Amino acid sequence: MGTRTRDPQPLGTAGALDRMARILADRNITQPSRTAPAAEPDGLSPLEALSAGMPPRYREAVADHPQVLAWAREVAEQAVAPSLGARKQVVTGPSLLMAGVVGAGKTHQAYGAIRLLVRMGLGVRWRATTAADLYASLRPRQGVDSERELAAISRCPLLIIDDLGAAKASEWVEEVTYRLVNRRYNHMLPTLVTTNLAIKDLRAHLGDRVTSRLAQMTTRVQFEPVDRRRLLAT
Ligand SMILES: Nc1ncnc2c1ncn2[C@@H]1O[C@H](COP(=O)(O)OP(=O)(O)OP(=O)(O)O)[C@@H](O)[C@H]1O
Ligand SMILES: [Mg+2]
Repeated sequence: MGTRTRDPQPLGTAGALDRMARILADRNITQPSRTAPAAEPDGLSPLEALSAGMPPRYREAVADHPQVLAWAREVAEQAVAPSLGARKQVVTGPSLLMAGVVGAGKTHQAYGAIRLLVRMGLGVRWRATTAADLYASLRPRQGVDSERELAAISRCPLLIIDDLGAAKASEWVEEVTYRLVNRRYNHMLPTLVTTNLAIKDLRAHLGDRVTSRLAQMTTRVQFEPVDRRRLLAT
């Protein structure tokens, strides 16, 4: 069998990030679970390691929404170093409910916000999932410990819940969402929620318990009603 060689590539290029993503995949670290900046193999900087764990679409996302920037500052202020001289870690903090039409840039701002925290020098253990993917991963089935998965995602210091309200409503969906939001509410864990729905529709979809908690724990960020995908396509 022959040995394949390849030219060395500079760090920080898309190639390096893709290699990093493959390394993570080989280690069975797959979306939506990503941890940064603890994993910095191959000498990647925290930001490069972080980017490698993000969907390529949002690897370069820059948060520029004033409310998102204010949120990042607050989270940074509440970050705590686990020991003297150690990097500060996101522990507790405020949350955002980013609402707007399809393509308004909500997910871009959410990933950009995590990148910003890492650029600020914070350690961020984070996860990102669409609500629909989360429900799919938690459906009771043989060989999967759904309770453990729900507990893990509930406890994660920083969580993106993308497209809340986009999955088909049911009692089970309402209950799982309640349990997740309630744990994050109780422990004051920073959560970035995106949705296409107006609050009254979220309430109809997920019930009063979820929307009452979201109303208290999140600052609402309303995006301009512009579909950036259509703009980018022209
Ligand atoms: N501030 C920005 N600068 C540059 N590109 C952006 C910005 N915001 C969004 N985009 C791009 O616009 C497109 C749509 O953004 P995004 O996916 O974040 O929208 P969304 O609001 O999450 O939409 P949906 O509700 O359908 O999930 C993406 O290609 C994204 O990379
Ligand atoms: Mg989105």
